[in-house]
Amino acid sequence: MLTREQVIEKLDIVKDPFLHRTLAETGGIEDIIIKEEKQHVSVKIAISKPNTAEQMQMQQEIVTILKEAGVPTVGLRFSQLSEEVIEKFSPEDPAKPTLLSGKTKTKFLAIASGKGGVGKSTVTVNTAVALARLGKKVGIIDADIYGFSIPDMMGVENRPTLRGNRIVPVERFGVQMISMGFFVEDNSPVIWRGPRLGKMLKSFFTEVEWDDLDYLLLDLPPGTGDMALSVHNMIPTSKELIVTTPHPTAAFVAARAGQMAINTNHDIIGVIENMAYFESRVTGEREYVFGQGGGQKLAEELDSEVIGQLPLAQPYQEGESHASVYQEDHPLAKVYQQIATHIDDNF
Ligand SMILES: Nc1ncnc2c1ncn2[C@@H]1O[C@H](COP(=O)(O)OP(=O)(O)O)[C@@H](O)[C@H]1O
Ligand SMILES: [Mg+2]
Repeated sequence: MLTREQVIEKLDIVKDPFLHRTLAETGGIEDIIIKEEKQHVSVKIAISKPNTAEQMQMQQEIVTILKEAGVPTVGLRFSQLSEEVIEKFSPEDPAKPTLLSGKTKTKFLAIASGKGGVGKSTVTVNTAVALARLGKKVGIIDADIYGFSIPDMMGVENRPTLRGNRIVPVERFGVQMISMGFFVEDNSPVIWRGPRLGKMLKSFFTEVEWDDLDYLLLDLPPGTGDMALSVHNMIPTSKELIVTTPHPTAAFVAARAGQMAINTNHDIIGVIENMAYFESRVTGEREYVFGQGGGQKLAEELDSEVIGQLPLAQPYQEGESHASVYQEDHPLAKVYQQIATHIDDNF
């Protein structure tokens, strides 16, 4: 009869039929009971997908190995490997590169700001729509998990649907999007942290059926706190757009967000100065209500450039709800078109 160690040695090299990893790697041998007097060895094996034809084959293989090694009777039980192990070893589908595999043509553009309320989300949705108007396939991930606002700003009321077990993103103005806002009830606050948060964000990349994107825009959490930093670390390498208002203090705070981008190896593609001025419709005169020069100062500090200055203005209010998206003939849409062209030319 075999000893426990010999049984392990024999079975360690058997591979999980779906993960194509040995039981030694997956830790799949869960239990071994050796009954000398009955000349019987029973083994419990955890595999990624029990109760399948592949399990039957594996069963045969194990019984054969043990019998050839001199065990008269063999008992086998199967159980399910833990999610963590399965996820760790899951082979990526080679035919279809996932967004996080680094092999996709999708360009990632993260939108960051030093603080909230400067128009980061407004810039995200309008830049996305402008890229779509250039004929690009565009998606948005609302990575501002606590402060999600993308569905509302895009005027979306429906929710994603499922195709098999994949999430089909919602689309409007030619932009596909996913947001925490789709998964909470009644606009209730989200209080996830750490691993759950990371899992959610990861699933936005891997479990969503993005349709062959040219660009994926990420609306980051504002500021430079833990939340912003952990999201920075979770997302793939991206170019970053930094949004500020023209006030020197705002620009000073935004510089820290820019520094965070640089520290996490994200290239800054440009600075957007939002709420740059107010232009009177009557006289055409410009008033710099939030001060002046912040964008320029920030760009110099980050060794970048101001690629757009957006005045204060709302989308036209008539007709269908455009929420925060400027209509194609709106003066601000034209500025966004220039921003999108600059991004597309300089990516
Ligand atoms: N250029 C602008 N003119 C007028 N209102 C603006 C402009 N940009 C943003 N806003 C408004 O300012 C508020 C904050 O913008 P938002 O995009 O939510 O900021 P953030 O995402 O940085 O917190 C929103 O109500 C938005 O509609
Ligand atoms: Mg926002």
